[in-house]
Amino acid sequence: MKVLGIESSCDETGVALVEAPADPTQPPRLLAEALHTQAAMHADYGGVVPELASRDHIRRVLPLLERVLADAGAAPADIGLVAYTRGPGLAGALLVGAGVAVALASALRRPALGVHHLEGHLLSPFLASPAPAFPFVALLVSGGHTQLMSVRGVGRYELLGETIDDAAGEAFDKSAKLLGLGYPGGPALARLAERGDPKAFALPRPLLHSGNLDFSFAGLKTAVLTAHRKLGPQPGEQALADLAAATQEAIVDVLVAKSLRAAAGTGAGTLVVAGGVGANRRLRERLNHAATTRGLQVHYPPLALCTDNGAMIALAAALRLQHGLAVPQSDGAFDVRPRWPLADISA
Ligand code: KG4
Ligand code: ZN
Repeated sequence: MKVLGIESSCDETGVALVEAPADPTQPPRLLAEALHTQAAMHADYGGVVPELASRDHIRRVLPLLERVLADAGAAPADIGLVAYTRGPGLAGALLVGAGVAVALASALRRPALGVHHLEGHLLSPFLASPAPAFPFVALLVSGGHTQLMSVRGVGRYELLGETIDDAAGEAFDKSAKLLGLGYPGGPALARLAERGDPKAFALPRPLLHSGNLDFSFAGLKTAVLTAHRKLGPQPGEQALADLAAATQEAIVDVLVAKSLRAAAGTGAGTLVVAGGVGANRRLRERLNHAATTRGLQVHYPPLALCTDNGAMIALAAALRLQHGLAVPQSDGAFDVRPRWPLADISA
């Protein structure tokens, strides 16, 4: 069956079409996907403006849908299920995707399915080959979430630890802002860090030795602010690159240490990394290195599908469908869940 996915939880409009074979041992296959990122629109404000985000989703979603169908060589009537991000995310932005998805499903006389955004991220490495094998530990690192999950199968998620304040992506973004790198600063900070010496500044590794699997990044931001102030009003290029490298290293150190601890604690031989920060090169380098020395398998989504996209939403719906876990709706009614713990959908 062909599953359409629509993502609109934050500042990316994503649409994708996935083929879900009836046989659950056959992984779903991505047929086409299209994305529009609003980053440039929000850059002037230093962060996402929810009202602007909603309005832009409205403008983008149908042209993206047409492009995806054309790229896949499919007609609207070929769509068997319309999946959309039900939450968590910005209420107005979610409502756009949900409204369009449910209206389209009604017009096509097909069911619709609301998907958990984090389940999409969590399962996104199934869009890469080889697909990861269950059970695995998942490190979910995005702009809004930092969580370690134990994943025993589709729909079987257990939270092992999470951030008690800022998310890892937020730590990247807020530090980048302090260094004058604009929004969203994560990728810019990572680029600047490539030219820096991470040892030039001693920054804290919050909760590194806490003994549990929780994270805290708020203190790091304060330390970056203090270090930046000490550089004076006009810091040199190299000093800024060094501070960027030190910041990235502090975040990556904690993420790597806790992920390895989670894998060891659960006995899982596979680690899955998903979410926007999963695109970070240094994080991948460090995890891959640690994995080789420990005999761990590490899986990532394709680089372009680390950040928000429609493919992961279509994929999560397809996997749920294949495993008999989807309860699609056909009554034209829908709601969104701006706050929605992943535990609520776990068996
Ligand atoms: O998953 P995502 O697109 O959106 C959320 O659901 O939050 O993640 C976006 C986050 C932002 O904080 C962004 O700065 C960060 O991922 N990010 C990165 C990199 N690429 C994206 N952080 C560090 N290094 C990168 N290469
Ligand atoms: Zn996301």
